Amino acid sequence: MKTVDILIENVNEILTLKGKNQPRIKSEMNELGIIKKGSIAIIDDRIIDIGRNLQYKAIKKINAKGKIVMPGFVDSHTHIVFSGSREFELDMKLNGFSYMDILNRGGGIYYTVNKTRKSNIIDLIEQSKFRLNKMLEYGTTTCEGKSGYGLNLETELKILKAQKILNDSHPIDIISTFLGAHAIPNEYKIDDYVDLIINDMMPQVSKYSKFCDVFCEKGVFNVLQAKIILNAGKKLGLIPKIHADEIVDTGGAALAAELKAISADHLLRSSKDGLKLMAKKGIIGVLLPATPFSLMMKEYANARYMIDNGIPVAIATDLNPNCWTESMQFIIQLACLNMKMTPAEAITAATFNASCAIGENNKIGSIEIGKQADIIILDCPNYMFIPYHFGINLVNKVIKKGKMINF
Ligand code: NIG
Ligand code: FE
Repeated sequence: MKTVDILIENVNEILTLKGKNQPRIKSEMNELGIIKKGSIAIIDDRIIDIGRNLQYKAIKKINAKGKIVMPGFVDSHTHIVFSGSREFELDMKLNGFSYMDILNRGGGIYYTVNKTRKSNIIDLIEQSKFRLNKMLEYGTTTCEGKSGYGLNLETELKILKAQKILNDSHPIDIISTFLGAHAIPNEYKIDDYVDLIINDMMPQVSKYSKFCDVFCEKGVFNVLQAKIILNAGKKLGLIPKIHADEIVDTGGAALAAELKAISADHLLRSSKDGLKLMAKKGIIGVLLPATPFSLMMKEYANARYMIDNGIPVAIATDLNPNCWTESMQFIIQLACLNMKMTPAEAITAATFNASCAIGENNKIGSIEIGKQADIIILDCPNYMFIPYHFGINLVNKVIKKGKMINF
């Protein structure tokens, strides 16, 4: 009998997420490829077998009776590297100040930029590692991470280098996005800052980034400026992403379709026409329900319309100093309870579709033979428990690249 490194046995439900290797749409999002009372065999960092009654000897056997096993969560939108915190803004929000009011008074992103510029790289790495550890404890095994709290070449590079060091040293894989266009620094007029991004920053940051993102929003970067920046990024091989229509509909969804961005994120205020264009081009909608939650908004992105009209939907934390959560379980809960996604849709959105939103679906996002063994075991008898049993950490074990994580 063949010996494997890890054999997970007696699993109540394995959510394999097996299916076509493309962003899942409509009813496909409800198909979790469940195997009941199954096992998973792992050698090195790979999944080598899945099914019922697997016959292997194993160096380590895990009895997952009464539990579910699923792919590690993929957090496809985070601003993980930043310095400091902004807990004092809650009082301002309670006094009626909006997100943009706080930003326009020099707070918000600007406050964090100031702190991040002043931090040295060691300190930035330490602060971000704390968040990565929490993410791993809560079941996230891969995340995307954006720069954007530098707004000058030196600090944008510092953030991206910190992300590279974290990626190399921490179990979580971090896929980097350059978000120099996150706000306009006080020392520049907007057109000059756009020139700086394209001519000075991009050639230097491109080797540290897979994606380029723009905060396309009223009072920040307009659609034309976003288009210029993202097209310049494309020439350097950076795949476009957009923070689109978060506060006001400025046509960000349509721009994502026009540029064939890999994803458009937020989409809280997008027009139905813009969303239809995204569906037509297969652009992934990354929804970030913790953001309206942290801003105490009543309205959430129209996930039902998006899914019903064929947008492949992913969900993510948006982890940043305004919206600080490391928990993809909480995001699934918000997606179901506040955006009316089904539990199965939310799980697809937090795993396979999220892996597509960062272009990593060949490697992660589902439990299939040959894929990387990024697997979590949850204290749930079935998958519907994830949005049902909320406010606690349901994760029992995390396996990253075939290695059991010890907490
Ligand atoms: O995606 N809206 C723009 N950027 C972030 C928030 C950044 C911040 O407030 O520090 C977001 O929500
Ligand atoms: Fe964001």
